[in-house]
Amino acid sequence: MSTVTIKQEDAKQLAINKLVAAGLVEEHAEKVAEVLIHADLRNVNSHGVLRTEHYVNRIKAGGINPTANISFNQTGTVTGVVDGDDGLGHVIGDIAMDHAIQMAKENGVGMVTAMNSSHCGALSYFVQKAAESNLIGIAMTHTDKIVVPFGGKTSFLGTNPIAYGIPAKTHKPFILDMATSTVALGKVLQHKEEGKSIPEGWGVDAEGKAVTNPAEVVSLTPFGGPKGYGLSLIVDVFSGLLAGAAFGPHIGKMYDDLDKKRKLGHYFCAINPANFNDLETFLTNMDQMIDELHDSEPAPGFTKVYIPGEIEQLNEENNRKNGITIASSVYDYLTN
Ligand SMILES: NC(=O)c1ccc[n+]([C@@H]2O[C@H](COP(=O)([O-])OP(=O)(O)OC[C@H]3O[C@@H](n4cnc5c(N)ncnc54)[C@H](O)[C@@H]3O)[C@@H](O)[C@H]2O)c1
Repeated sequence: MSTVTIKQEDAKQLAINKLVAAGLVEEHAEKVAEVLIHADLRNVNSHGVLRTEHYVNRIKAGGINPTANISFNQTGTVTGVVDGDDGLGHVIGDIAMDHAIQMAKENGVGMVTAMNSSHCGALSYFVQKAAESNLIGIAMTHTDKIVVPFGGKTSFLGTNPIAYGIPAKTHKPFILDMATSTVALGKVLQHKEEGKSIPEGWGVDAEGKAVTNPAEVVSLTPFGGPKGYGLSLIVDVFSGLLAGAAFGPHIGKMYDDLDKKRKLGHYFCAINPANFNDLETFLTNMDQMIDELHDSEPAPGFTKVYIPGEIEQLNEENNRKNGITIASSVYDYLTN
């Protein structure tokens, strides 16, 4: 694949220009671009500026409100609901996590659901924000169906990601950010494009039969059989039903019906470790856990034991110096 390496500030500005030209208010375009660049910096390019074109198309078709009036209703001491007014999920998620952080600082915990939202990008952005405030962050979002329920033949659930961000004292935060499908659809499509077969277990055909030819994949599988399936349902309950949004097959499609508002839900939580333990002790113990994991002997075929999120953090360090690498087709779109 032909690629272009570009400074993150330049890529961010290009994405902002496209979004603003489509009618998105500048402040929202800034936030969306920030979340997209966060993903590209971590080499999670599937959720980077690559998505700009889709958002632009959706705004132009009427499926995203470019001038959303996002509101917050605090429903209890530690709970609240953000109504996204059908704006972009990145902005809605950011506002929701900020309220969860504020409540966790004041009252130990903050839980916020978001409704009337749309695609919110890489969840690591939101949980990292909590961890940078010395809080534990949790984020979940449901997505439209592409994953079979365990034992089922046809798709019912989305790739329903879940993320945790946990602060440490001297180390970067522990950031687990994972879809609950075995792999993202993008990985299957990449294998198809490169003419490679996929390992058995990534996807199934229309009959629910495991296939290794990526062209035959109709649905993905949940990771870890019934365990990933169960976790995916939990994500749908927290970010869908709890948020007053739809579940599974009733969720608005990402790449179809561009003129329809998707009405997605998300779930954000922040927990203040200081309400449970001495903060310094907690952070020091996180450091010790990370140090001991780093000291673990690697198994044959591995060079090191990494902490969740660490590989992405190393990518970010490198890309901040050398620029982010995006597909030439994405660069062409952003510059034309
Ligand atoms: N907003 C949405 O609708 C949506 C939907 C699906 C996925 N996503 C996003 O897609 C992104 C990619 O998700 P994914 O499931 O493909 O991620 P992934 O499979 O690349 O990584 C999952 C987790 O495993 C960790 N990991 C990977 N290799 C490791 C190693 N060797 N040692 C220790 N930890 C390791 C990563 O740090 C990460 O926390 C995420 O940012 C997710 O939020 C978003």
